[in-house]
This record gives sequence, C-alpha cells and structure tokens, in this order.
Amino acid sequence: MTKIEKVMIYAEKKLVTEVTAHDFSHSVRVMKLAEYIGGKSKLKVDIEILKVAGLTHDIIDKKVTNNVDATVDELIDTLSEIGYSQEDVAHVLNIIKNMSYSTGRTPNTLEGKIVQDADRLEAIGAVAIARTFAYGGSKNRRLYEEGDDMSSIAHFYDKLLLLKDGLNTEAAKVIAKSRHEFMENYLKQFLKEWHLEDLEG
Ligand code: NI
Repeated sequence: MTKIEKVMIYAEKKLVTEVTAHDFSHSVRVMKLAEYIGGKSKLKVDIEILKVAGLTHDIIDKKVTNNVDATVDELIDTLSEIGYSQEDVAHVLNIIKNMSYSTGRTPNTLEGKIVQDADRLEAIGAVAIARTFAYGGSKNRRLYEEGDDMSSIAHFYDKLLLLKDGLNTEAAKVIAKSRHEFMENYLKQFLKEWHLEDLEG
C-alpha cells in the first residue's frame, strides 16, 4: 500500500460521519484538483504534499472536530507513522492551518497556495451550491429570506461570489470562470422563482 493510500484510509475514517459540505468526497476532489493545478505549474511543485494536504485539510477544521488541538496532534502522529518526514508533516500542517477562508490567510508556500485554490474551487459552482444548502440545512438555516444574512442564499453574497477574485493560480482562475457564471445564473433563476417572477401573464 502506498503512503497516500494509507492517508486516504485515515481521512475517510475521520470524515465518515460528515454528510454535508466536508465529506470525504470533498477531500478527494480537493486532492485531485490540487494535483491538476500542480501539474499546470511551471515551477517545481511537491505533488505528494498537495495530495496529503488536500486529503487531510478538513480533518482539523472546527466544523469537523470538536477538539482541534488533539486532532492536530493525532494527525501529526499518523502522518509520521505512515512514513512522512518531520519536514513534510510540518509543511502539510502549515498549509492546512493557514488555508481556511475564515482565517483570512494564504499559506506561504506554492503547494499551500495550490491546495487553498483547490478547496476554494469546491466553493464555486454546482457542487458548491449543493454543499451550501446541505451545510445550511445541518445548521437549521433558512434557504432564503430577505434581510436574513444567515440564510444559505446570503452565504453566496458573503463569500462564494467573492472567491474567484482571491485565487492564487492561473489554472484555478480558468476553472473558476465557468463555475462562477453558473452560480450567478443559478441565483438569478432562484430569485425569479422565489418571487414567482417566471409566471406568464
Ligand atoms: Ni474543504
């Protein structure tokens, strides 16, 4: 079994109870998106770091674990046991601690910038729409209500529509373009139907 396969088994186990926005399939897509963006880079990129960070980035998120410090320690031990060097483990941790939108930070390595873009692409587009409503539902939030800035639709204006302008890499910007347009069209249609403005006559 490769080291990445071992990380996948660990990540799946940690995320198995997640069925909304941060489920295991999200982590696998972030891994694959990061690998794709890394492959487009003209600079040298450590693909293994991209994959490990992509797979594990949500495990230590406070939306997923109720004990962040203990989960960070466990992740460090697990990656070390799997056979990653101290330097690699530190690099992965540096990425996943600094990539979340809520921190307002950008990781300081190219690998970190790529994984951050991969995760942000998951918040732009059709899958992002599904993730937003599923997460909102799990938090008992409204779909939409005029003036309710906690509704799922409000989240598009607060965060999702802003993401494309904060991407780090050209490859991610290319992918984001059509995803962003799809979201804008979706919102137009949503509001039209919400207000029954699509009725004839
Ligand atoms: Ni994520």
